[in-house]
Amino acid sequence: MNPDRPPEPVQGVVRFYNFVPEGNAFLEDVLAGLARAQKSIPPKYFYDERGSKLFEAICELPEYYPTRTEMAIMRAHIAEMAEFVGPDAELIEFGSGAGVKTRILIEALRPPLYVPVDIDGAMLRTASENLAQLFPWLNITGMCADYSRGLALPQFVGVPIRKKAVFFPGSTIGNFTPEEALEFLQRTRGLLGTGGVMLVGVDLKKDKSALDAAYDDAQGVTAQFNLNLLSRINRELGGDFQLQRFAHRAFYDEGSGRIEMHLESLCAQLVRIAGRRFKFAPGETIHTEISCKYTVAEFGAMARDAGFVTEKVWTDERQMFSVHALIAA
Ligand code: TRP
Repeated sequence: MNPDRPPEPVQGVVRFYNFVPEGNAFLEDVLAGLARAQKSIPPKYFYDERGSKLFEAICELPEYYPTRTEMAIMRAHIAEMAEFVGPDAELIEFGSGAGVKTRILIEALRPPLYVPVDIDGAMLRTASENLAQLFPWLNITGMCADYSRGLALPQFVGVPIRKKAVFFPGSTIGNFTPEEALEFLQRTRGLLGTGGVMLVGVDLKKDKSALDAAYDDAQGVTAQFNLNLLSRINRELGGDFQLQRFAHRAFYDEGSGRIEMHLESLCAQLVRIAGRRFKFAPGETIHTEISCKYTVAEFGAMARDAGFVTEKVWTDERQMFSVHALIAA
């Protein structure tokens, strides 16, 4: 063997698994949610093809600071983050989406295996194919799944894996209630096993005006994103929502430390979905999303309660956003 010649590049293996059950859970969840006293629809249904695209547009909005702030924090500290995770880690990402932040991490970490998990199968494939082009050596096991209720990871034989590392950026953890977030962290702690690590992005509490604007932008992209849920019901479930009769409402509640997002009925109306009828009073809302905000200390306490030790917390200069390095104790 010629020691001067670099080793032949080994082509990574790309696989996909679909854990989204057959049958129409969307229909069942919508019918059940709209039958409640406070009507609601689970936020995972935002992310059809159009919804994922609109969400990418939200991430570029001047008012929506979390994406670019988290990116800047990662760029500034990526060497330290990679060192924290360490070599030969199986990198698991929940809600991987378009995977822009992931690139920075994969480049620095060069993990033997990357496991993106996302509810949007089309987005998962496109993002994985882009990553495979960029990093031909990377093994990718894409999982189309709802990670909010626990998940069994498929085994990948033949690559050295020393530990598991979960990457959970975007303050998606804020889209759980604090009780759900604690449960989610406990479950993730179990999945990781002792010595496993987690990098999690958490949006910080700040003044109401900045938060209100981030979830109700001037161009109305967030409004379109929220209303797309009704279009999706019309498209996929044969609903007859009239979109101009609903309005996007999003506001920060300082008492509970969370953004609440709703779709408000602008008049008295009846909506039909799959032969069922739903009555709306003027001003009545469908609750579609929460986005909880934490202080660094509040999130640290929750991580500790879930069985993690906080190794390090990075923030931006203006204390808008935080990235927490957690070790499963
Ligand atoms: N995790 C993001 C957040 O809570 C998701 C998000 C951003 C979002 N903007 C939104 C969800 C608008 C629904 C509507 O910040």
